[in-house]
Amino acid sequence: AEIEAFDLVVFGGTGDLARRKILPALFKRFCAGQMPSPSRLIGAARSKMSAAEYCDFVRAALREFCDAADGREVDQFLEHIDYVTLDAMGDQGWQKLADKIGTQTVRAFYFSVGPSLFKELAERLHKWELVGPDSRIVVEKPFGRDLETARALNRVLCSHFDESQIYRIDHYLGKETVQNLMAVRFGNMLFEPLWNAQYIDHIQITVAETVGVHGREAYYERAGAMRDMVQNHLMQLLCLIAMEPPAKFEPDAVRDEKLKVIRALDTVEPHHIVRGQYTQADNVPGYREDVGNPRSTTESFVALRCQLSNWRWAGTPFYLRTGKRLKSRDSQITVVFKDAPHSIFGPEAGRHNNELTIQLQPNEGITLDVTIKEPGQGGMRLMDVPLDMSFAEALGPDADAPDAYERLIMDVIRGNQTLFMRDDEVEAAWAWTDPIIKGWQARGDVPKPYDAFDFGPDMAAQLMRRDGREWRGIKA
Ligand code: BG6
Repeated sequence: AEIEAFDLVVFGGTGDLARRKILPALFKRFCAGQMPSPSRLIGAARSKMSAAEYCDFVRAALREFCDAADGREVDQFLEHIDYVTLDAMGDQGWQKLADKIGTQTVRAFYFSVGPSLFKELAERLHKWELVGPDSRIVVEKPFGRDLETARALNRVLCSHFDESQIYRIDHYLGKETVQNLMAVRFGNMLFEPLWNAQYIDHIQITVAETVGVHGREAYYERAGAMRDMVQNHLMQLLCLIAMEPPAKFEPDAVRDEKLKVIRALDTVEPHHIVRGQYTQADNVPGYREDVGNPRSTTESFVALRCQLSNWRWAGTPFYLRTGKRLKSRDSQITVVFKDAPHSIFGPEAGRHNNELTIQLQPNEGITLDVTIKEPGQGGMRLMDVPLDMSFAEALGPDADAPDAYERLIMDVIRGNQTLFMRDDEVEAAWAWTDPIIKGWQARGDVPKPYDAFDFGPDMAAQLMRRDGREWRGIKA
């Protein structure tokens, strides 16, 4: 759809998220012609700065994070940038902001600040009558640190805005490959009839990172991998893989189905979950050195086995795994189908099964392992070969793969909430996460050490081995 002119106000406009993600994303959309005049991005933050100084800040961010050389496009983009010095906790700057905001119908307020400021911002937006029926707010995780705090946060937001105006970002939903999960499942006849406990042995989801926690030590130390990745990103991937087909690709239709998945999740047994923490290896400091806390028990790795109690998935385990400072950046979902019910080729042919792997990052693609005859004169021996599709090869190297934030920010402007989390979804995810974290606390659980840049604690491999299975992707 045509994009209408808009004002995007970024509270926390001088922060890290603005620099790394929001500004580069909007610049790219500008270059794609999606920021029609008189649209503007108005940075708002405590720093005393003129609009011209903020433009220098924006220029530097574009240079660093999207290789945008100074030139005409950058200059033209900067004509759409403005700035107000503003105090979220007081009245300073708000009148100025009110004067700057145009009469365009679409107004989006990006709360790129800590959640402790949400209430203050919301109240002042109303006090200065900046919120109309067509205004939207965008918020980022963390949405609380447990069910109780998430509820409190939702109450604050919902007392000032209608749920239809609240855009909770989980940037995984903005990733092209993640949206492709839905395209693959619901655009093909091939997979969906087999997509259930009867034909699928298990599903595994790995989001492995090489990065550590540099620059966000304080946040991470309080969060850990369970809150930072599992409660949101891995949960969303699980939802998209496991949900029933929504009747339409529309916000509430999709979110209703995701919610049902989360609500169908069983409580995870303590022996079905492994926490890990990276330790020093080859001159790379360990987690405890990184955060400067020699006694830290925060996990930088989680592997778990969970199950969904519903008609489609009863009895099918889902294995989730994520961690920092692992061997490689490698995120993938593997759907492991059951063996054929009977082998006509006898035991010497070996056991074979199909596997569908959806590689999310890097090198997005889809692979389907198919069983064929091993070439040669001998008996009928079977082997697995991949039907392999790299998106880069299939779509060409120039295929448009916008950053998650480009997609999501434009969806805010368009008013499409399909790829954003609803309040009840977030709360249901916490309701599942809470007992796990509380159990660790009650038991005084200490994460298992694993070498930096390796495959994670051995116990995670055992979690699979015990069930006669093994992880795909990174392993020992
Ligand atoms: C963020 C987490 O939400 O996602 C980070 O807070 C993590 O810890 C990041 O590194 C991963 O995102 P991506 O897009 O690099 O896979």
